[in-house]
Amino acid sequence: MKLAVLLIALAPAATTAAQHKSADDWITTIWDDFKNAVDCFSCQALLGGLKLVSGLGESFMEDVITGVCSISGAEDSDVCAGVIANEGPAVYYSLKNLKPGSHTAKTFCASLVGLCEFPKVRPYEISFPSPKPPTTRPLPSDKAPIKVVHFSDTHVDLSYEEGSNYDCSKPICCRAYTEKDAPGNTTSPCGPWGNSKCDPPHRLQESMMAAIADIDPAFSIYTGDVVAHDVWLVNQTEVLQDLNATYSSLENNLGLVYAALGNHDAAPLNLFPSNKIPSEYNPQWAYDALAEDWLTLTGIPSVQKASEYGSYSAVHPDSKLRIISYNSIFYYKYNFFSYTEPMEFDPNNQLGWLIAQLQEAEDAKQRVWLISHIPTGNSDHFRDHSHYFDQIIQRYDATIAALFFGHTHTDEFQVSYSDYKDRNWDTATAMGYVAPSMTPTSGPPSFRVYEIDPVTFGVMDFTQYIANITDPSLQTEPEWKPYYSAKADYGSKLSPAVKDAGVELTPAFWHNVTVAMEKDTTVFQDFWSRRTRGFKVPACTGDCISNEICALRGADAQYSCYKQAPGFSFEKRDGSGVSHLSEESFQQPECNHAGMAPLFAKISHRAKLARERGE
Ligand SMILES: *[C@@H]1O[C@H](CO)[C@@H](O)[C@H](O)[C@H]1NC(C)=O
Ligand SMILES: *[C@@H]1O[C@H](CO)[C@@H](O)[C@H](O)[C@H]1NC(C)=O
Ligand SMILES: *[C@@H]1O[C@H](CO)[C@@H](O)[C@H](O)[C@H]1NC(C)=O
Ligand SMILES: *[C@@H]1O[C@H](CO)[C@@H](O)[C@H](O)[C@H]1NC(C)=O
Ligand SMILES: *[C@@H]1O[C@H](CO)[C@@H](O)[C@H](O)[C@H]1NC(C)=O
Repeated sequence: MKLAVLLIALAPAATTAAQHKSADDWITTIWDDFKNAVDCFSCQALLGGLKLVSGLGESFMEDVITGVCSISGAEDSDVCAGVIANEGPAVYYSLKNLKPGSHTAKTFCASLVGLCEFPKVRPYEISFPSPKPPTTRPLPSDKAPIKVVHFSDTHVDLSYEEGSNYDCSKPICCRAYTEKDAPGNTTSPCGPWGNSKCDPPHRLQESMMAAIADIDPAFSIYTGDVVAHDVWLVNQTEVLQDLNATYSSLENNLGLVYAALGNHDAAPLNLFPSNKIPSEYNPQWAYDALAEDWLTLTGIPSVQKASEYGSYSAVHPDSKLRIISYNSIFYYKYNFFSYTEPMEFDPNNQLGWLIAQLQEAEDAKQRVWLISHIPTGNSDHFRDHSHYFDQIIQRYDATIAALFFGHTHTDEFQVSYSDYKDRNWDTATAMGYVAPSMTPTSGPPSFRVYEIDPVTFGVMDFTQYIANITDPSLQTEPEWKPYYSAKADYGSKLSPAVKDAGVELTPAFWHNVTVAMEKDTTVFQDFWSRRTRGFKVPACTGDCISNEICALRGADAQYSCYKQAPGFSFEKRDGSGVSHLSEESFQQPECNHAGMAPLFAKISHRAKLARERGE
């Protein structure tokens, strides 16, 4: 029967047959397709059905998916309707063009519902303007280090209401959605500074900015995600207000800040089409607003290039440091506009542009920092583009001092290797630092202070700061305190120990940290707990440990040991290397990145439960 649906979807007469069915019939059919989707083949059939529905028009498709969302019970019906109204046009565009059975369609089923294996990376030859020179990473200069602060995923909620209910049924709470949630009417009131079930009030951000200002950094980096997780409500007005509030706060409190684009920094979220997609879908207004804010923060004219598609390259004043901030959302599995037939190898020629920037830096004997939102090794990043990107990193490994990311809300890192079949300290070539979030949904709010060599711009050390707001209704102003430091807490665990302030934290250093984790589980468990700053630390033993270590060694995502489990894809890894679907996993905004794609996953999960109940 599923084969029939697939064939019908591919047949020219399909639309005629489909037109005889009402929206209600289609809701039942698609819900059945979800229930029957148990493997890659039946997922292709589901796509065939959805494609037929999209053949009947955009609003018809939206009605059907909204209906399926409601009967599945995946979200409150206002959340279903809001999310689908926002992202429907992109889903419509993508489904209409999708060819069931293709590389794109399999990537779709792997990434969104976990029903296909990730298809093999498609070969793509990257050419460079000059061959790789014999140069290697420069040695530290022995000059006194400068301080640079890194923060990420702030997600301030301007509608946060002190005293409102923190225990609600929506993706984020601390808003008076109903009378029962209003201050005075709830037995679970939010405190004035934030709550782990909510995105934070502006006040928390002001407190963190003041703490950063006290440290007096030479400059700061911010790896994106300004906007709150109210994804079913958010629109252009709210995004612009959020951008203004956050970037004004940065301007008022901090000096120079280099920022990057987050997947939440437009409405609808996640949708950043390449220039091959009709321009009506392009969030040009968001790029324009960000470019203006970033120009104000840096005063560097080249930053204005961000108005093209969110990327820029800037030389830090009076230095040999080039900062390249690029748009990683082109490679994000929840960006529906990326599922073109075939998928583009290099959307907007961004990788080509990146190579030109790196070549200029190499020629000028500059060092480079790459800053972006989504880590290339993360399971949210397309594997194809992770691999293409990694080839560029390998070519310019002597020029790139480090890479800096956010997005996962957790404290992690990723190492690149010249040979992934021999991942060792002497094949480790680049280091990606992943900083945790300010939003307290995934652990205490946090920022990081690096000690940076002022000549080579190599990372000599870092200290993570947190404000412990574990208490469900934090009542007093947070205190921002050092939590741990890289050299003191990891370097000391190496043999021989690395403690000397004059030694760089090289890719080899971090590889050796992963070796120490293999040899001594307490080193691993310390890392594991620091990921969420001690918040809801899941158990991790046996294969979970080896898979997590493999992920740290997986800047090229195809080598990260990550596998999809049927029925789900977006929740937090528990470290088994396989993602699991549970009701709990849907309750934390950082896990579900809330929006249409996770909604598909959640419907798929509900369908699985219904199937198991024999419905
Ligand atoms: C609290 O609940 C009462 C009774 O349902 C309602 O009249 C009142 O408006 C609510 N308070 C707020 C602030 O919404
Ligand atoms: C966004 O939503 C708010 C609140 O519902 C509304 O006032 C505003 O007009 C909307 N803006 C746009 C651009 O639709
Ligand atoms: C932007 O934010 C600043 C500081 O909060 C505020 O004074 C200003 O009115 C805001 N501008 C807009 C256009 O919202
Ligand atoms: C935060 O505070 C709680 C409650 O006092 C405590 O149990 C927890 O260990 C603290 N977390 C950290 C990371 O210090
Ligand atoms: C990493 O470990 C190897 C083997 O133990 C050692 O030779 C090398 O010096 C270490 N490198 C760093 C940076 O710690």
